[in-house]
Amino acid sequence: MAFTIVNEESDHTVHLTNLLDSAFGTGRKGRTVYRFRDGVAPVDTLRYVALGQDGSVWGSIRFWPVAMPDGGVEVLLGPLAVFPKLRGQGIGKALVAHGLAGARAAGYRAVLIVGEPDYYRPFGFRPEHVSGLTLPGSVAPLTFMGLEFEEGRLTHAAGPVLPALRRERSA
Ligand SMILES: CC(C)(COP(=O)(O)OP(=O)(O)OC[C@H]1O[C@@H](n2cnc3c(N)ncnc32)[C@H](O)[C@@H]1OP(=O)(O)O)[C@@H](O)C(=O)NCCC(=O)NCCS
Repeated sequence: MAFTIVNEESDHTVHLTNLLDSAFGTGRKGRTVYRFRDGVAPVDTLRYVALGQDGSVWGSIRFWPVAMPDGGVEVLLGPLAVFPKLRGQGIGKALVAHGLAGARAAGYRAVLIVGEPDYYRPFGFRPEHVSGLTLPGSVAPLTFMGLEFEEGRLTHAAGPVLPALRRERSA
């Protein structure tokens, strides 16, 4: 089934709670990645949705800003979600590819993820890129990984990755 990827607009946003509940469950806000999202807005220019031909939201990807040990800001990919009935058609991978292109074009030098290695490895995410970095909490059974747009941005970094400055409530 055909889909298109566009910037998330306010009339899409109302569908995202259902999408994220169906993908991650209502207990999702206890996950470590939500420590980065609590009170912090997603990167406004990196919010994308996949739409069906009738304009309905089929999937979504967002990125959150995170503070690197040197005080610079990079982005954490997620949440990425596709409605269960629409999975397996390439929507998730297309959203990741679109989002990564957007992050690179926006000037970010690296992207972090807590996810499944098998899914994200083809995009270049590697656990060894973040071996010097720590997150504030457990990520098991998922894996902390990173993708460098600028060589050394992650592999030469050491210390904690922290939530970016609080600005407004997360969705
Ligand atoms: C992960 C998710 C976004 C993938 O969306 P999708 O549109 O089905 O993805 P695609 O069609 O692009 O890719 C499907 C492929 O990814 C694989 N895949 C899906 N979820 C996977 C996972 N958690 N781990 C490893 N591989 C996975 C599928 O087996 C399939 O493999 P194939 O191409 O060899 O058949 C979707 O399954 C989802 O919303 N899951 C719940 C939320 C979630 O786990 N998000 C990711 C957080 S890390």
